[in-house]
Amino acid sequence: MAKGSEWAQYSALYQIYPRSFKDSDNDGVGDLKGIVDKINYLKGEVDSLGVDAIWISPFYKSPMADFGYDVSDYYKIDPLFGTMGDFQQLIRKARKHDIRVMLDFVLNHTSDQHKWFKESRVSRDSPKRDWYIWRDPQPDGSPPNNWQSAFDGPAWEYDAATEQYYLHTFLKEQPDLNWANPEVRKAMAEVMQFWFEKGVDGFRIDAVHWIGKDKELRDDPPNPNFNPETMSSYDSVLHTHSGRQPVLFKYLKELATVAKKYKRSLLITESYPDRDGKPHTFSDYIDFYRNVDASVLVPFNFEGIRLPWDAQAFQKSIDSYQEALRDHEMPVYAFSNHDSPRIAARYGQKGARAIAVLSFGLPGLPMMYYGDELGLDNVRIPPEDRRDPVGWTVGDKVHRQSRDPERTPMPWTEAVYGGFSQVKTWLPVGKKNMRRNVAEQQRNPHSTLRLYRQLLTLRRESDILRYGTYQPVRQENMNIMAFIREYQGQKLAVMINFSHIRSHLPPLTGELVISTHQKVDGAARLKPMEARIISLE
Ligand code: GLC
Repeated sequence: MAKGSEWAQYSALYQIYPRSFKDSDNDGVGDLKGIVDKINYLKGEVDSLGVDAIWISPFYKSPMADFGYDVSDYYKIDPLFGTMGDFQQLIRKARKHDIRVMLDFVLNHTSDQHKWFKESRVSRDSPKRDWYIWRDPQPDGSPPNNWQSAFDGPAWEYDAATEQYYLHTFLKEQPDLNWANPEVRKAMAEVMQFWFEKGVDGFRIDAVHWIGKDKELRDDPPNPNFNPETMSSYDSVLHTHSGRQPVLFKYLKELATVAKKYKRSLLITESYPDRDGKPHTFSDYIDFYRNVDASVLVPFNFEGIRLPWDAQAFQKSIDSYQEALRDHEMPVYAFSNHDSPRIAARYGQKGARAIAVLSFGLPGLPMMYYGDELGLDNVRIPPEDRRDPVGWTVGDKVHRQSRDPERTPMPWTEAVYGGFSQVKTWLPVGKKNMRRNVAEQQRNPHSTLRLYRQLLTLRRESDILRYGTYQPVRQENMNIMAFIREYQGQKLAVMINFSHIRSHLPPLTGELVISTHQKVDGAARLKPMEARIISLE
């Protein structure tokens, strides 16, 4: 099999942000029972989407300073989301429909309300002191080094009781665990094992490169491209020492060993290459394949979240990534998630449909963020309704904007609150998104939801899409991105017109398999913003 493990056979991995999928108990926030109620939407009925794997963002016990990415007990479910019984029901129902379930593993930090941290901060001699990263102030009282929080400001918080600073790469309510301490690694491996035993199939691993820190905690070098007018303090330095040290692969190998005990398990890592103005190399991703165990651990490729709407940029980025990968290394291209503006907000509705075709045309495991299939757009959130702490600390002036607009509730029907809940929802559903509700799109044969369903079916049925090789198509038209997938002599071509004008196709002829457009222009031309898959003769 080319490019990928058994997971590449799956139609898509669908990310559920549980606060916003479906509210079953009418408190305005989504929950696990809500997911159970909607499993049939994902798979199991004639008009289901056809998704066969889900990743659920954190639902562990949490004070919700960062909406669940601040875990205060890895073994408990936050009452807001339900009970362990609800989780078990979810696993049972998912199993019944042959849907794999992945959880979110938040391993770099805990909540400051976690019992480990509470114990750690009691005294300098606490047995848990070394589970976190504590250091003395510099002689002038300032933080131990210049590391910056990803959410703005210094990454250190002074604790008056013990007169030391602790490190937090994110909020001060999210102290970093000390992964250099074997006891921490053992405790975290046990957490993973616990959930595997409960029946999960894998994990998305959060903010993973921060677990590899410089032993001596040396200062990060200054970023020569820093502009304080437009960037947050996080970008004032290059994160050379605060993360991404090769020791992180050793730690990940330990987790991969746990995962490998479970059949068909998969770990997918979240690690964004630094945005320091220089073009980065793909090694920031590729290292994860080569240094751990590519049969069980693969990285997300986030380039598609950052690329401008430009055929050549997409072609170059994907061609080089495919070129860099070895046969057994399964790519996971992400075009959206709970930390990035919606695809439709970046590229418009037509662009979002084209991305759908691209993402299912590519090798590897396709990724969807809930609501992508409806073409959901970012929702404008009035300042008084803002919930994301990043929106508070960094503000909208810099590139780290509030993430609320892409985390709004899923609109199921045209009913009040989009049928997501019967009471006021934690974030507004948004008028435009309401009109894109599931019920409406299920009725409309040309809706984005129907396009996704077709793509999922095609992917399930096509060995070429699942196992085929990738070959770029070199052609003259700068507005078109194109590539060929081939398996056992059979070929499909995927073509996307990034421009607002009709464009001549690359010299490829064949039968139309799928198009973003209802009426196509025949073999010779792609319509503005059309994406098409054809079967080559
Ligand atoms: C990851 C998550 C993000 C979270 C952060 C801290 O980047 O995707 O939502 O805020 O880690 O855990």
